[in-house]
Amino acid sequence: MDKAAFLPPGSVRARAEDPRAYLTALRAQGKVVVDAGEKVVLDPAGVERVLTDFAHFSCNGSNFYGRSRAIIPQQTDPPLHTRYRRLLTPLMSVRRMAVLEPELVARTNACIDGFIGRGWCEARAELAVPVPGISLMNLLGLPVEDLPFFMDFKDAILRPRALSDDVDEQLRIQREFADASTRYFTEVIAKRRAAPGDDLISGMMAADVDGVKLTDDEILDVCFQLPMAGLDTVTATIALGLIFFAGRPDLQDVLASRPEMVESAVEELLRWETPNTALKRQVAQETEIEGCPFHPGERALASIGAANYDPSRFERPLEFDIARAPNRHMTFGTGQHTCLGNHLARLELRVVLREWHKRIPRYRVKAGAVIAYSDDNMTRTVAEAPLEWV
Ligand code: HEM
Repeated sequence: MDKAAFLPPGSVRARAEDPRAYLTALRAQGKVVVDAGEKVVLDPAGVERVLTDFAHFSCNGSNFYGRSRAIIPQQTDPPLHTRYRRLLTPLMSVRRMAVLEPELVARTNACIDGFIGRGWCEARAELAVPVPGISLMNLLGLPVEDLPFFMDFKDAILRPRALSDDVDEQLRIQREFADASTRYFTEVIAKRRAAPGDDLISGMMAADVDGVKLTDDEILDVCFQLPMAGLDTVTATIALGLIFFAGRPDLQDVLASRPEMVESAVEELLRWETPNTALKRQVAQETEIEGCPFHPGERALASIGAANYDPSRFERPLEFDIARAPNRHMTFGTGQHTCLGNHLARLELRVVLREWHKRIPRYRVKAGAVIAYSDDNMTRTVAEAPLEWV
């Protein structure tokens, strides 16, 4: 699996710590730059082009995460992808996700109950990890007790390097977890066929477009993608967000006293922190952007991070504007592959910010703590988020 960071280690740290400064400086060098051997497209128009021109920039052919088949829908192009999204998008609509809210509110408060009396918490492990995990289990109608398996599974698939330095061993670990996930979901799918429920897996079985339904293998390929797409991303946004707000008492006051501002705060947070800084595509046919040639077989990186800080798209892009409207950030991508889980992610982020600020209106980074930012495989995050109440 190719997990090469596209910048040398020092640069990765700089980008992880302050992506706004880093990507603005990179953009000043040009609309397309070659950085550590990778072609990175930085301006919003170029980013839009890479993410929507499938004839030249394909989602096919990237790594297969220890399996022989592509994951669905991420690693497919139109027209196949169009069919998948017609089936899947209605199952992840705002209305469908709203059903999950009461349970999400209860679970978020249960997490806060666990640490509020202590006067401090490590918000990543104690809140930012469990919330998306529990949401995903509820979405799929699976027991929360199985969550540790999902955590191990997505870590092994996404970060095998953390488990071994040996490349062959990394591939073996990925295959082992991919096979375990296939066995797990094969069993779940068989159970749902026998007794459908109101969960996403049952929804996938029932959905059809023009009389054509998803096969069990296709459902499996969607299930495989969800833990990889829907856990670390939300964890990163919650942890990065709470750390950011911890240094801004003015914004804490707004969030605590005007809960109606949470909606725009979440959108601005998504823009500001942009957890996935760049999206990968395979060049399918010879083409060029701004005079930079792209050859078949190469990889193109669309920097949604740079697009999110571009003055041609945002007024005062380097300012956090909690009331920013409209907010046309590209944090969920753009075009047909726009994040399938964006309504769920938005719901999770709103619930966490609302419930946290109701109960913990003033907080700061724990005295003496040093925040370790990272940008592994183009997902920004923090190792820990130690916060204390003021
Ligand atoms: C803050 C949280 C999240 C962020 C920042 C995020 C970001 C993204 C981005 C940028 C893409 C487009 C990828 C591309 O074009 O290559 C994407 C796709 C996707 N996301 Fe998310 N995501 C988040 C949460 C979720 C959640 C909670 C789920 C589901 C449980 C999810 C499921 C998916 C799926 C299935 C795709 C593939 C869509 C397609 O290819 O058609 N994501 N996400």
